Amino acid sequence: METDSTPTVISVGDLTGDEDLDWWRTTLRAALDALKEGGLVAFPTETVYGLGADATRPESVARIFEAKERPPGHPLIVHVASAQHARSLAANWSDREEALAEAFWPGPLTLIVERGPAIPDVVTGGLATVGLRAPAHPVAEMLIRLSKVPIAAPSANPHQGVSPTRAEHVAAGLGSKVDVIIDAGPTDVGLESTVLSLTEAVPTILRPGGVAKSELEQILGTVRYGDEVPVSDDTRQRPSPGMADKHYAPRAEVVVGPLAELRKRVPQSCETGWILLDGGTGSEGASWESGAEDPTCRLGPDPEAYAAGLYDALHRLDDAGCQWIGVEAPPDGEAWRAIWDRLRRAAG
Ligand code: TXA
Ligand code: MG
Repeated sequence: METDSTPTVISVGDLTGDEDLDWWRTTLRAALDALKEGGLVAFPTETVYGLGADATRPESVARIFEAKERPPGHPLIVHVASAQHARSLAANWSDREEALAEAFWPGPLTLIVERGPAIPDVVTGGLATVGLRAPAHPVAEMLIRLSKVPIAAPSANPHQGVSPTRAEHVAAGLGSKVDVIIDAGPTDVGLESTVLSLTEAVPTILRPGGVAKSELEQILGTVRYGDEVPVSDDTRQRPSPGMADKHYAPRAEVVVGPLAELRKRVPQSCETGWILLDGGTGSEGASWESGAEDPTCRLGPDPEAYAAGLYDALHRLDDAGCQWIGVEAPPDGEAWRAIWDRLRRAAG
């Protein structure tokens, strides 16, 4: 595949639901060809844009690590079409996995299970486990289905950067390192999937995301958060390499706190931007304050709308040249947990 040239961009507009397989085959042609030739395709999922390669081809997967400058050993999620597809890639797939897939797939849940022989070492950084997820986005679903391969894909951003929720973010961050970008507009969920490890005694959430702990507990009984496990209890290798604290971070310094405190901490002579809470007065999703002295985005008031707009706000404030971003602390509570997780890492 070509490298260091402008990526081919496929624009997928509003879907009517009448699109048949031939339409998809024609629309996704350049992406399907790129995957077949060992190239990289950035594609939308319901969470964030992924940087995909054929998961069964080690040399293609290696290109993902190069493009992101991601250290080897950080395992990638493998995207599948269905539970049946997942079963063919796992060493064990029990009723429990089946029940989870039935309840939450396609959707923002990644299941860490024992790895089967079809998944090469480079995908999992040599771990004996693999993360599997069936994404709920028509483009992602069709790409997997028509390519007939599982697709290894991390978020399509340079290592430790903010994940892309729009095709423009991918182009700005990875540009010429990608062969094809499929643009289907902003993603819905806005934060990455919940990562659930099923290879420990108690099912463990390694990364909070779009599927909540309480929802998982309805199927699994007790579920714990990985960051609550005392290190001494953890006889295995720490299960989520690549979850380093500094992650999901823009170039700017990010500081999270109550607004009054932030106002006192604004550094002198520094471009400043703000992410403030929408007290419930604004429109759904993000609204940018016009006429404010500093670029200011309001998010919320509900956690879904906040999550959907957070990464775009961080990207835009970075692009506006902000060196310091004040983020008004959102509420506590389970519904805000994934948001707090990403804010802490951005501020890491
Ligand atoms: O929503 C998402 O999950 C997006 C979209 C593209 O699907 N993908 C994503 O991938 O966020 P990435 O590579 O940026 O994050 C994957 C996370 C990493 O923190 C990694 O450590 C964890 O999943 N992970 C993947 N495979 C694992 C494994 N076998 N064991 C433990 N953790 C794993
Ligand atoms: Mg990522």
